[in-house]
Amino acid sequence: MRNPPHAPCTFVIFGGTGDLMRKKLLPSLYRLAQNGAFDKGCQVLGVARDRSLTDKQFRAWARAALSDLGLPAGDRDWCDQCLHYQPVDMNSPDDFKALAARIGALEAGRSAGNRVLYLALPPASFEGTIEALGKAGLNRSKGWTRLVVEKPFGHDLDSALRLNALVHKYFDETQIYRIDHYLGKETVQNLLAFRFGNALFESAWNRDHIKSVQISVAEQTSIGSRAGYYENTGALRDMVQNHLTQLLTLTAMEVPAAFAADSIRFEKVKVLRSVAPIGRDAIVFGQYAPGKVDGKKLPGYLQEPGVTPRSRTETYVAMRLEVQNWRWQGVPFYLRTGKSMPQRSTRIVIDFRKPPVALFRTVGRRPHRNTLAINLQPDQGFDLTFEVKSPGDRFTLQTERMQFRYPEIKDSLWDGYETLLLEIVRGDQTLFVHADETEASWRLYAPLLRRRSMPHPYAAGSWGPEAADKLMRATGGDWTT
Ligand code: BG6
Repeated sequence: MRNPPHAPCTFVIFGGTGDLMRKKLLPSLYRLAQNGAFDKGCQVLGVARDRSLTDKQFRAWARAALSDLGLPAGDRDWCDQCLHYQPVDMNSPDDFKALAARIGALEAGRSAGNRVLYLALPPASFEGTIEALGKAGLNRSKGWTRLVVEKPFGHDLDSALRLNALVHKYFDETQIYRIDHYLGKETVQNLLAFRFGNALFESAWNRDHIKSVQISVAEQTSIGSRAGYYENTGALRDMVQNHLTQLLTLTAMEVPAAFAADSIRFEKVKVLRSVAPIGRDAIVFGQYAPGKVDGKKLPGYLQEPGVTPRSRTETYVAMRLEVQNWRWQGVPFYLRTGKSMPQRSTRIVIDFRKPPVALFRTVGRRPHRNTLAINLQPDQGFDLTFEVKSPGDRFTLQTERMQFRYPEIKDSLWDGYETLLLEIVRGDQTLFVHADETEASWRLYAPLLRRRSMPHPYAAGSWGPEAADKLMRATGGDWTT
């Protein structure tokens, strides 16, 4: 058991029979309950439209989902005692009244009115559900009520502002947990430990010592069967505005006044407000064309089921950002993400400056730059390169590497969702996105959405379009893979 149990509460999951519930929330809730991280009084109420589904059928569905994921045949006790189902039509105020009554009944004698209202829903349903929750009085309870909103939070600046205004009509910011599942990843959190727990690195973390920063999220997977979602989204909205931006702000932020949600989120917003508007020549959009990964033929984006024939949706984005503040002036930040790439690799690479004097010019090769790679997935850990003398009587340099990897036991690392669910119950908002962050981020990227040009094709299984390499080379670098 990682933590002592927390106050009992009821998880009300809207989208209770959907994909996110089946693949992420249900297994995470199950594992947390099995590990004793939750109080035994915690209940899970799945909410969806299906009126024919009973508690019994819902539990059977959940057991099958857990077994499919290789979890021990879905513990009967937990499913029978803790899982419940309530049909709700989002347009029916009566259904919300019935929902309030059901939650009350589940809480009776158990959870002191502590509730997590989790919107695991398509974004189009957010506004209607929040409004209905507010009108039904489900925004307050005898204990605490926390609202969890999945990404994407808005699809542009106006919709994000509208959504924030609506949420704030019924809920305080202290009640709102906007999810970016990257913040639940162990190495993402470790960025804070690494940066602020090691004076060695923090003193070199600035324009005097760093030449450039690369943040890259390469995915081997294609969009698969998600055309319905992806066609209206694209990589800029799906990955850059949220996941890559979180990595950017955690990498570039100043030392917070305290290790507390408000102080950390405040520093992250400051980074976003310091980023200069992104010029046309500083961004490249791409779209995968037919190609090969590991010798296997892959379709192009336009051949995926459900994609419109001449779709301009981007599956790849590369860009150069400038964080115009005292620490980072003149240091380019490169962001890149793409689908159907040769391998899965999420990493932040810090490229340090070369020594200022070419001391070894006459005796051997010049020193290479020190680089620090922070690997988020698949192998979580850090690599630091440094120069040493090659053994032997001739004086020349060679590059060596110091490496740290988290133990390769998968179960020892928490799944992001488990971490996030625990933090919600604890009431710690550090790993969630503040309203100001969503707005600052959309302010930065919204102009790019309007300027999106025809994406450059790149072969599935390659590292992206040539134009992205040119973007990088313009300042003398290469993408690190
Ligand atoms: C999701 C995106 O938010 O993140 C997906 O919608 C993407 O398109 C996924 O594949 C990547 O997450 P991870 O944890 O696999 O890097």
